[in-house]
Amino acid sequence: MKVIRTISELRSELKKRPFDALVGFVPTMGFLHAGHASLLHKAREECQIVVLSIFVNPTQFGPNEDFDKYPRNEERDLAIAKEAGADIVFFPQVEEIYPRPSKTEVIVSDITTKLCGASRPGHFAGVTLVVSKLFNIVQPDKAYFGMKDAQQVAVITQMVNDLNMPVEIVPCPILREEDGLAMSSRNVYLSSEQRNEALVLSRTLMETKQWLITDAPNLVSDIRERITNQISASPLAEIDYVEVLSYPALETVERLDDQESESLIIALAVKFGATRLIDNVIISIKGN
Ligand code: PAF
Repeated sequence: MKVIRTISELRSELKKRPFDALVGFVPTMGFLHAGHASLLHKAREECQIVVLSIFVNPTQFGPNEDFDKYPRNEERDLAIAKEAGADIVFFPQVEEIYPRPSKTEVIVSDITTKLCGASRPGHFAGVTLVVSKLFNIVQPDKAYFGMKDAQQVAVITQMVNDLNMPVEIVPCPILREEDGLAMSSRNVYLSSEQRNEALVLSRTLMETKQWLITDAPNLVSDIRERITNQISASPLAEIDYVEVLSYPALETVERLDDQESESLIIALAVKFGATRLIDNVIISIKGN
């Protein structure tokens, strides 16, 4: 496995590959966990060259967010990347990616204003800017993203389709700890009490999915209210949003019986102390 820190070195290395070798790309912000490893495994199965990027992207963090304290551990990340089968780890400094402030913006409209886009203004503009830059640098055939950030997957897929970027976006399932907590680099911020309370998220999502199958409620307001009540019962949980929208269009849905899209997302963002966690489940309406 090669660790490369500059764009020029990465480009020269990738030029050496056989012309028909597929390049699979896993962009991350590091502090890798089994969820990231699962993306690397999938890329390893499907591609001849697997590139992982580790870059904590400043442009997707708001002024009062956790950019400076975002967890970092290069040595551990490299060990996980190697074990999971990465061929190349691209590990640039901020100045390599942003040698000067970018005057170019990459804005996906509409779907970036909902959910996390509403609570984190500018976040998705930073994500689409850096992912466009990384796609231009790596020029992958396939790029792998976890569905824990389902809105990010929808936004990046929209960008790639709108701009005819020659890359296939491969959404990969959420990986969960044994007790159900969705894996996230930010879970390390949680105290053991907060971590325990945070289990309310996955528990509520799974129960709601089951309730939709057995009781077939129709009004989305009822679904949202039930979820909100369950999460609010946890004393440490501070709800940012509980939303039920169509997926991937992220349109408002009022009743399940007049729902045109095949899938719904139930998406949550909830703070436990200073740590904001997100989780979701996607439900197929027609036939579950
Ligand atoms: O999902 C992430 O870790 C980041 O948003 C990404 C896609 C690596 C862009 O910085």
